[in-house]
Amino acid sequence: MGYTVAVVGATGNVGREMLTTLADRKFPVGEAIALASDNAVGKEVSFGEDEVLKVQDLGKFDFKGVDLALFAADAKVSAAHAPRAAAAGAVVIDASPQFRMDPDVPLVVPEVNAAALAGHGKRNIVASPDGAAILLAVALKPLHDRFTVRRVVVSTYQAVSGAGKDGMDELFGQTRAIYVNDPVQKSTFSKQIAFNVIPHIGPFMEDGATKDEWALNVETKKILDSKIKVTATCVRVPVFIGHSASVTIECEEPVTAEEARRILRKAPGVQVIDQHDNEGYITPVEVAGDDPVFVSRIREDYTVDNGLSFWCATDNLRKGAALNAVQIAELLVERHLGG
Ligand SMILES: NC(=O)c1ccc[n+]([C@@H]2O[C@H](COP(=O)([O-])OP(=O)(O)OC[C@H]3O[C@@H](n4cnc5c(N)ncnc54)[C@H](OP(=O)(O)O)[C@@H]3O)[C@@H](O)[C@H]2O)c1
Repeated sequence: MGYTVAVVGATGNVGREMLTTLADRKFPVGEAIALASDNAVGKEVSFGEDEVLKVQDLGKFDFKGVDLALFAADAKVSAAHAPRAAAAGAVVIDASPQFRMDPDVPLVVPEVNAAALAGHGKRNIVASPDGAAILLAVALKPLHDRFTVRRVVVSTYQAVSGAGKDGMDELFGQTRAIYVNDPVQKSTFSKQIAFNVIPHIGPFMEDGATKDEWALNVETKKILDSKIKVTATCVRVPVFIGHSASVTIECEEPVTAEEARRILRKAPGVQVIDQHDNEGYITPVEVAGDDPVFVSRIREDYTVDNGLSFWCATDNLRKGAALNAVQIAELLVERHLGG
């Protein structure tokens, strides 16, 4: 006995991680179904140690009988297929940006706003936030509960896997090309990413911000508190897995680094690594393959009233996407789906 769970985008970075996470966390899966584009039909993907799934064509797939559909393809695929999955009776958990700001779709990070899941029935869709927004929300939530965060200044350092498997291939290909003196080819990123950083993620908007910078602001408001102001600079860095962020917050209440550290140590989904020595902080290569949001470099910011600065990082494919979606599925089963 268990749930019939379909993963859309099962051949991609996030989809594969979803299948691994479902198996690792022993989610009660009766049948697992792997879906992708017609190009991938017949390919095989692993589900846990022993099971191999043959990929089926999403375009031809009928969602009748599916309990949960985890979407990890791009926004256009979700726009075209998530509503029909929901209409067929599956609860959709969508990792793409498509429905995140839809007022009838809850945008959920289980450690932060699990209660919002109660609204999932309006469209039968739950959205999982942008990876950097999840990172920020998990770190901010305990601080907001105690100190009331009013303004956030954040610079992100986002891994190439945030741009899908093509982003990882581009970093690998460019690095290799530079070593063997071949011309550097670019297609996913607008500038060379190997041995470089690019202050540009998502299309530019009218005011000069990028879509991801805008998303970090509006998604944080929707998940955590509409009164919080977020100003963001999103930067792509030549790291395969692991989004990081440098964060400064201004709070309503007086804040000390010591109390912030104590609060964060007890917070769900957070691990504090904060020693003032050479190895006393986290870096993205160390978070790859791990679940928590790690917080380091916690210190008071004396340039503003009630200011605090910190560094945080998480595996963007796990907590930043797949793990968050599976945690949503676990909560749905526990609180809403029954059976
Ligand atoms: N990567 C992150 O850090 C992260 C974090 C949060 C959210 N997300 C979101 O998660 C989603 C997936 O990201 P990703 O990094 O896993 O991308 P990815 O590695 O490029 O994978 C994309 C997946 O979508 C499938 N796909 C493409 N076109 C399709 C179609 N027409 N019909 C069905 N499936 C199709 C691909 O299958 P084929 O093998 O058939 O091409 C592949 O399985 C995106 O919406 C992204 O915004 C990603």
